[in-house]
Amino acid sequence: MRRRLADSITARLIKAMTTAQNDRAAWLKGGDAQCSIPACSTGTPRRLVLLGAPGVGKGTQAELIHERMGACQLSTGDVFRAAKSLCEGERSPAIAAALECMRRGELVPDNTVLQMVRERSKCVRCQGGFLLDGFPRTVAQAEALDRIFAENDIQLDAVLSYDLPIEKIVARLGGRRTCDKCKAVYHIETRPSQTPGVCDHCGGNLIQREDDRPEAVRVRMEAYERSTAPLADYYRRRGLLISVPAEGSPEEIFERTARSLEQRGI
Ligand code: AP5
Repeated sequence: MRRRLADSITARLIKAMTTAQNDRAAWLKGGDAQCSIPACSTGTPRRLVLLGAPGVGKGTQAELIHERMGACQLSTGDVFRAAKSLCEGERSPAIAAALECMRRGELVPDNTVLQMVRERSKCVRCQGGFLLDGFPRTVAQAEALDRIFAENDIQLDAVLSYDLPIEKIVARLGGRRTCDKCKAVYHIETRPSQTPGVCDHCGGNLIQREDDRPEAVRVRMEAYERSTAPLADYYRRRGLLISVPAEGSPEEIFERTARSLEQRGI
């Protein structure tokens, strides 16, 4: 009886640990901010980059990898979107310009992105590992990231590159809804929330992103082809690239991801 009780408590603890949503305060707020849930990882911490076109599902996979493997999702897009909630006077000229780039669907200049990432380099040193989502996005950013890793004596485990035909990506972006509080990602058809318009995790409002308008999506896809797609070769040459077909449900893609990592002993 006592043994059964202990087993059930352990099972509940493991579930709480593996499904806990870290608030990512250290990453989203920068400076001295601390995350409310301490970093944890199941086994060895993973240090991964997620690559792929806008809307292919990187954020969705990052959330699943975080829940099941414990590393924290570090999305540069989320940091810029969080800066939107600052009032005009609190935004530096660089951040104001970055938000304008995002609205149009263009890439934010490398210097602004790199300064923002450097201010948060303690997240890269986090003992729970990390999932870099949306960074690096240019060869210059990838080279700068290599320098940050070298300075901190960190090795990248792998770069997961998600691939999907463009018409399917556009359909994913059209139905995307994002929580305005915890940034969880939903889709009105393929991943709806339990209550329409309300986040399952925190009760926040689900909103449509400004850069999911068709004209901004076109600019984002062009920027991806021009500046980000060459990164696949950059990481392939270093033996780090794992290509993952992004067809199918988020669960199926997660299984594919987990198998690919396991095959490499990651
Ligand atoms: P960022 O926030 O990084 O956006 P992105 O790369 O454009 O990627 P998304 O977040 O749009 O898509 P995703 O691949 O994460 O897909 P998701 O999981 O949401 O960047 C935004 C902007 O910030 C940039 O344009 C730029 O201006 C700036 N920026 C950021 N980083 C920068 C950098 N390093 N350098 C310069 N500028 C930078 O999925 C999409 C939808 O599909 C969701 O609704 C989801 O529910 C659904 N879905 C996911 N998987 C599936 C599936 N398997 N089946 C069906 N539906 C699915």
